[in-house]
Amino acid sequence: MSENLSPEIQQEIVRRRTFAIISHPDAGKTTLTEKLLLYGGAIQRAGMVTQKANRHQTVSDWMDMEQRRGISISSTALQFDYNDVCYNLLDTPGHQDFSEDTYRTLLAVDSAIMLLDAAKGVEPQTIKLFKVCRERGIPIFTIINKMDRPSLNPFELLEEVEKVLGILAIPMTWPIGEPGDFKGVYERDTRQVHMYQRTSGGQWKAPVATSGLEDPNMASIVDEHDRNLLDEELEMVDELIHPFEKDLFLEGEMTPVFFACAINNFGLDNFLDRFTELAPHPADLRTVKGEKPAASADFSGFIYKIQANMNKAHRDRVAFMRVATGKFEKNMTVKHLRSGKKVKLSFPYRLFGQKREIIEEAYPGDIVGLVNPGLFRAGDLLTVGKDFQIPSFPRFPPEIFCRIRLKDMTHNKSFRKGLDQLGEEGVVQVLQDPRSHSRLPVLAAVGELQLEVFKERMLEEYRCEVTFDRLDYGASRWIKGTIEPDGGYTFTLLYDEAERPVALFRNEWHMNQVVGNHEDLEFLPHPPDF
Ligand code: G4P
Repeated sequence: MSENLSPEIQQEIVRRRTFAIISHPDAGKTTLTEKLLLYGGAIQRAGMVTQKANRHQTVSDWMDMEQRRGISISSTALQFDYNDVCYNLLDTPGHQDFSEDTYRTLLAVDSAIMLLDAAKGVEPQTIKLFKVCRERGIPIFTIINKMDRPSLNPFELLEEVEKVLGILAIPMTWPIGEPGDFKGVYERDTRQVHMYQRTSGGQWKAPVATSGLEDPNMASIVDEHDRNLLDEELEMVDELIHPFEKDLFLEGEMTPVFFACAINNFGLDNFLDRFTELAPHPADLRTVKGEKPAASADFSGFIYKIQANMNKAHRDRVAFMRVATGKFEKNMTVKHLRSGKKVKLSFPYRLFGQKREIIEEAYPGDIVGLVNPGLFRAGDLLTVGKDFQIPSFPRFPPEIFCRIRLKDMTHNKSFRKGLDQLGEEGVVQVLQDPRSHSRLPVLAAVGELQLEVFKERMLEEYRCEVTFDRLDYGASRWIKGTIEPDGGYTFTLLYDEAERPVALFRNEWHMNQVVGNHEDLEFLPHPPDF
């Protein structure tokens, strides 16, 4: 940590943990989120989200559509204090169509919890998200969930993590009980056994009996069969598995693994303790050159996400900013580096699901909601110190394209507003066709669900019924180079929100052919300045 930081900022940094949970849909992320809030003292009782029909009551899920579908398509930030540690849990959308949004959120965390379903092991969405964490070099914890159900053998699960993801998986706990009859965990470093009891619907913390393996009362806690199995497996673990090394974990090369059952709160107490001990506190922001900004005592922050109409009562756009360095204070005037404009941040919010409250200050690792007057975009930097650039935010080339039509043209004004705001948020990409007389844009998406969400939000939030006409394209690339006005190109040329040229192709094969024919142009899977 920089020496020029005040003791106050140093203290606040050291007590913060900013993290996200990455998983494949249905692995139990919503359940785990709620249980971490229970164990972190932010809620007194859980059980609101165990059934999808009741999901509307959870704090991290708030959109009507996701309540009906039972998927997490929106993301917010949850902050809670426990034992003088301040946790910022950034909720990541779970569906694969929303990966761009999720990837951006992963740029704002210092560590991640990878949640696996014990019966399914490593699933496709987990692999994608894991790769992003790996590229960023952030430390990853692993929780193997749903141990109460028939599952793969723990050794098989560890081997799968190592083989599929290429990271050393080191069990910090070991499950007790036959697969499907999960009773507790053995904590390897303290050599303590934790045996849990269920509570009704998993609403309360699970009562736990702890004991050392050699304690005389051990036989009353773990029966003979489970004890024999545990002894046998622990012998194999000690023989076969590499010891845990904190440095390798911090470099993202090794993941500590915990066995749990989130629904019954088994294995979460010792996980939270270890997480608090091992998870890194906010690191200084890295610039594009990989250096730390010189003036890290000064405030700087970056926008990682924009969300329109988060709260129907407010109907505004919120930019989510992660404080990167220094102390943030309400009414601060900061420089918006992309435009060079000075902005006074008068209404900074702390967001907790649907709830929001004005804050006076925030520290590195904290997430601040800012009302977005239309200026902020994901990836923007705000600072009071020296100018610098951070590594670019990921973008993905769209593969689905359609022209959008408004059913009732009297709603045109609201329709344009919706297009601007949902485009800015990244729900879909809005591409302009300079030759189109109607000025109706082309919507571009990476996944189908994006279009559905766009349509539904247009109706609910902007009262506009829209239809789509599918276009016969299946691939796209941003173009770097000089476009000739009469270039006779065999691809379709459109422009994105920042007026950067984008080429649309019928399919991958067509794209490869075109790319080969144009040595004067570069075709990139991301915007040229990213
Ligand atoms: P997600 O956000 O990752 O998509 O998962 P979510 O928490 O919604 O959990 C998915 C389902 O798995 C939920 O079942 C949830 O209750 C269940 N679940 C979560 N953790 C555990 C666990 O430790 N053990 C068991 N047995 N189940 C768990 P659901 O909402 O009832 O729907 P359904 O899919 O079972 O019908």
